[in-house]
Amino acid sequence: MNDITNTPRTTPRFSATFDEYTLSEIRRAAATGIYDIRGGGAKRKVPHFDDLLFLGASMSRYPLEGYRERCDTSVVLGTRFAKKPIELKIPITIAGMSFGSLSANAKEALGRGASAMGTSTTTGDGGMTNEERGHSTQLVYQYLPSRYGMNPDDLKRADAIEVVVGQGAKPGGGGMLLGQKITERVAKMRTLPVGIDQRSACRHPDWTGPDDLEIKIEELREITDWEKPIYVKVGAARPYYDTALAVKSGADVVVVDGMQGGTAATQEVFIENVGIPTLAAVRQAVKALQDLGMHRKVQLIVSGGIRNGADVAKALALGADAVAIGTAALVALGDNDPHYAAEYEALGSRAGAYDDWHEGRDPAGITTQDPALMARLDPVAAGRRLANYLAVLTLECQTIARACGKSHVHNLEPEDLVALTIEAAAMANVPLAGTNWIPGSTGSF
Ligand SMILES: Cc1cc2nc3c(=O)[nH]c(=O)nc-3n(C[C@H](O)[C@H](O)[C@H](O)COP(=O)(O)O)c2cc1C
Repeated sequence: MNDITNTPRTTPRFSATFDEYTLSEIRRAAATGIYDIRGGGAKRKVPHFDDLLFLGASMSRYPLEGYRERCDTSVVLGTRFAKKPIELKIPITIAGMSFGSLSANAKEALGRGASAMGTSTTTGDGGMTNEERGHSTQLVYQYLPSRYGMNPDDLKRADAIEVVVGQGAKPGGGGMLLGQKITERVAKMRTLPVGIDQRSACRHPDWTGPDDLEIKIEELREITDWEKPIYVKVGAARPYYDTALAVKSGADVVVVDGMQGGTAATQEVFIENVGIPTLAAVRQAVKALQDLGMHRKVQLIVSGGIRNGADVAKALALGADAVAIGTAALVALGDNDPHYAAEYEALGSRAGAYDDWHEGRDPAGITTQDPALMARLDPVAAGRRLANYLAVLTLECQTIARACGKSHVHNLEPEDLVALTIEAAAMANVPLAGTNWIPGSTGSF
């Protein structure tokens, strides 16, 4: 007789809790005593725009003809108080990414690509470079907790100002820029020493809440003669209340960045465990604007994991006025390109998975300050690739809008959407496909 208790196992089984990655992280922590830092956004799977579908036209809806009927994509940002609102041809903007994290050539390429498509770019921690001012027809200047590179003359050279309260990758956390990337130029702009790791503050030094922010925004308006739109950017944590408070503080535009949003360098534990998904943030932010009677009066920009025209259309249908992209724009420039596969492998990574942006050794010349690496990125060709990509996003978004019978992409609405999962239905506040059920809908947050 066989004793089945002695039958050897042929397939060793890994634990779902202690999977291979987790084990390697425990070993890495044990060997080094330091936490992991990386760039990019959350890698875990969370409910996202992929979990929504458009219904498209049918007997009760009338589609528009692609080649003959217009579907407008223009957007005006800052109509509340600014004397000179920002007028964009497409509802896709380039998110703030710091000079220091990115090379000067990458900043120039972002400006070239965005300008070719009639949209704006944004500075970032560390100040404004001439490369990006010179090549961006519309440039948003970030006013950050760190104040690195902050310069009143640059405020005046900008077309809009974005007060950064937080980022989706790290709501409540500050930025990091490691010594490898602090060259003389970067250090000079930040008035800090060369080659020393820098941490950016997690909160503004001179205000602690919405009442102070209101005064700060008024100061910024005075400095810029009430001309420039003032945006307030928050990481998605409590988007209903943050949006309402940003409106109360006098913002013209609110930017909500979800947890999938990219970062140049942050603790892995932060990226994966703090904040809420972009999908969950949009409807809450829109609801706040609607409850205040400010929807479409204060514009909403949404970011965090936007990759294609469907994502853009879904964010707009949920009520955003525009989206911002960071990671996808870098990929369009050439980041993680398989062309450099061997070099990514030499760095212990792979093309497509490379996220050690803080180390400054990017073979594609984008997340680096190394002159030899940076010279690999041709800003003209990279800018052209970005413009092509933005054109595709816009065409895809228009195609969907026309199929839903809309003559402007802003006419897309939640009514055009259904969800594939209960989670997405509850977060986006749209019905589960094939039903009229919106799980968890209580009408409030
Ligand atoms: C390389 C890099 C640098 C960034 N630097 C800044 C910054 O200086 N200020 C800021 O507010 N956000 C910064 N961000 C976040 C972006 O502005 C944006 O919120 C985020 O990238 C959007 O998500 P996505 O990358 O999935 O499109 C950075 C993102 C990346 C990828």
